[in-house]
Amino acid sequence: MDARVKWDARYRDLNIDEARPARVLSENTHLLPTKGCALDVACGLGGNAILLARLGLEVTAYDISAVAVNKLNAYAREQALPLRAQCRDVGKKPPAPEGFDIVAVSYFLERRLTGALIGALRPWGLLFYQTFIRDSVDDTGPRDPVFRLEENELLMLFAPLRILLYREEGRVGDISRGFRNEAMLVGQRR
Ligand SMILES: C[S@@+](CC[C@H](N)C(=O)[O-])C[C@H]1O[C@@H](n2cnc3c(N)ncnc32)[C@H](O)[C@@H]1O
Repeated sequence: MDARVKWDARYRDLNIDEARPARVLSENTHLLPTKGCALDVACGLGGNAILLARLGLEVTAYDISAVAVNKLNAYAREQALPLRAQCRDVGKKPPAPEGFDIVAVSYFLERRLTGALIGALRPWGLLFYQTFIRDSVDDTGPRDPVFRLEENELLMLFAPLRILLYREEGRVGDISRGFRNEAMLVGQRR
């Protein structure tokens, strides 16, 4: 099924109140600048975008789903947030170079976009990335391993950045606790 059709169908019945920022962002807001331009890539209902806009950043959000984009824009207008969502296939039209101080990506993995994500950052800009890993403790997340990260993969993909934070616990130790099923990274372009 076409990705746009699939995601439109999923978002039709979802409410914007269900949008949540990824932990990589909500737990590390102290790293954000007080002003600047931010991009939420494959934003869905915009949990990351809404948090960034509430913190005073000028936010652009891209998603392939017109349903999600329309819901997010309506919410941003109602809440008077500095946030503009656009319907955009980032595989075909990646973000412009050096356009953003912050780039956030959660639960979206398109490896061919790595260079464009790094390039979209202005010097000193920050990338916040969080998504599913293969070495998971349960079946949360996509079944297809293509959409899950290998061990240390975010570190390898974003090696050109200065890594400020990386967390990936796999199945090590007491798997009833900790940050499981996912990896998170914050990196800075130098
Ligand atoms: C699992 S959702 C994650 C949404 C959001 N980032 C979050 O954390 O809740 C994946 C998102 O990627 C979007 N997407 C898939 N392919 C895309 C593409 N080529 N360009 C832009 N967005 C895409 C989908 O519409 C969907 O909103």
